[in-house]
Amino acid sequence: MRHLLDTKTLSRAAALRILDVAEDMADTQQREVKKLPTLRGKTVVNLFFEDSTRTRISFEAAAKRLSADVINFSAKGSSVSKGESLQDTAQTLQAMGADAVVIRHGASGAPRTLATSGWITAGVVNAGDGTHEHPTQALLDAFTIRKRRFGPDSRGRDLAGVSVTIVGDILHSRVARSNVWLLTTLGADVTLVAPPTLIPQDVSAWPARVVYDLDEAIAGGPDALMMLRIQLERMNAAYFPTEREYSRRWGLDARRLEALGADSIVMHPGPMNRGLEISAEAADSPRSTVLEQVTNGVSVRMAALYLLLAGAESGDDPRAGA
Ligand code: CP
Repeated sequence: MRHLLDTKTLSRAAALRILDVAEDMADTQQREVKKLPTLRGKTVVNLFFEDSTRTRISFEAAAKRLSADVINFSAKGSSVSKGESLQDTAQTLQAMGADAVVIRHGASGAPRTLATSGWITAGVVNAGDGTHEHPTQALLDAFTIRKRRFGPDSRGRDLAGVSVTIVGDILHSRVARSNVWLLTTLGADVTLVAPPTLIPQDVSAWPARVVYDLDEAIAGGPDALMMLRIQLERMNAAYFPTEREYSRRWGLDARRLEALGADSIVMHPGPMNRGLEISAEAADSPRSTVLEQVTNGVSVRMAALYLLLAGAESGDDPRAGA
């Protein structure tokens, strides 16, 4: 694997390989000593042009658990404010020895530009670009669903027969896009639920069913209900119903939580806006996998970095040498 830019072009075999290696990594995270020597001598640069809590720290933890050196770049406080271009920023960090660049950027397509422009030789991982994709979020979501469904050893299993309902600001959500492509590649049935103004115009080309009524969507008891944040920072206020109306019609409250099937899980990629798209009861309920997703994210990102930086040359068990 040279780069990880999206899930739309990720094959079923490649996706399962990442999820299976992530299981190996998760096993190592149960040990008292969590660190592996696998990426000793490699340098991972986190190049973040947008804010992040989970993704940046998760990549940092993943790289450190694999013994890589980590350089964290945040556009805030950098020479970007003086007009430095993406090319010059990336080449500056490459000159300090980057083997992999993990990039989050507000412009859809920025990671692909970095990977294909010839500016740098490092492998590129997309950590979220505009409204386009957030592939490692979808991989950790798929990992979480698979583990909940098949238990501790779900290696080799896909998601055929699993139903996932994604609710919220689909229009602006890179998480929704990456999940639609990945989950359907793995065989899951995906339903999207949102106000009509928050559904993308090209949704008919997506492999997903669209429903506007949340009660109708959860009546069948999806295996996973994924709630999304409303991205007010990316939208014209005219798109959006009032917060009160949104919460009443598309929010996951105690009544809807009760109406879910007994085995349905509640997911959220974070950050959550409690009281808007998800109530505190739902976020903190035993059905919620929010923190499990965060934990799994480290294993999935360890797998992605391992496959990018060591997979091809080692061919070994990534757990070796611990
Ligand atoms: N899920 C996610 O991308 O969260 P952060 O924005 O905190 O990284």
